[in-house]
Amino acid sequence: STTPHQDVQRVLLDERAIQERLREMGSRITEDYADDPPLLVGVLKGAAFVMADLSRKIDLDVDMDWMAVSSYGSGTKSSGVVRILKDLGADISDRRVLIVEDIIDSGLTLKWLLANLRSRGPKSVDVATLLRKPDAARVEIDVKYVGFDIPNEFVIGYGLDYDESYRNLPYVGVLKRSVYED
Ligand code: PRP
Ligand code: MN
Ligand code: MG
Repeated sequence: STTPHQDVQRVLLDERAIQERLREMGSRITEDYADDPPLLVGVLKGAAFVMADLSRKIDLDVDMDWMAVSSYGSGTKSSGVVRILKDLGADISDRRVLIVEDIIDSGLTLKWLLANLRSRGPKSVDVATLLRKPDAARVEIDVKYVGFDIPNEFVIGYGLDYDESYRNLPYVGVLKRSVYED
């Protein structure tokens, strides 16, 4: 459709741009993991859409699993203190793990998750993310596959929520300030 949601200030990445970039990422992952297909670990809830589309662009017999994590503490979004709400269903020792994320913002969630998964003895743990906000980074993380570096604005859609809304928009858009300011 041509008219974005009324709460969207502008569309940052349309469906076609997202799918084209995921296709490129899928091709690279297919080459890089041809000898030993990865376990894809999606981070609920935001990564559900990236997982569904990216995994279908990887031409290997991948397995998929999910984790749900929650930051808690002072009320700021990412405190860096993370709690597991849903853990993996299986052991990852001697597996190659590829974490699938929708966005890396401060990086605190992922820093914790990387340390947690690495402590379980996998062959490797790497990260594929559709979006990254370099200007919001509070920790350095080595990310193997990045779709797009984007400006430090509040983005929604394609899995990304504001207060649990807008996840099912098929594009990534910037949320109007009037929606979260009063
Ligand atoms: C969002 C996003 C990433 C994380 C990035 O998830 O999906 O997982 O925040 O933030 P960070 O880099 O600052 O840690 P959120 O915690 O909102 O949960 P959700 O996926 O269920 O929306
Ligand atoms: Mn998330
Ligand atoms: Mg969220």
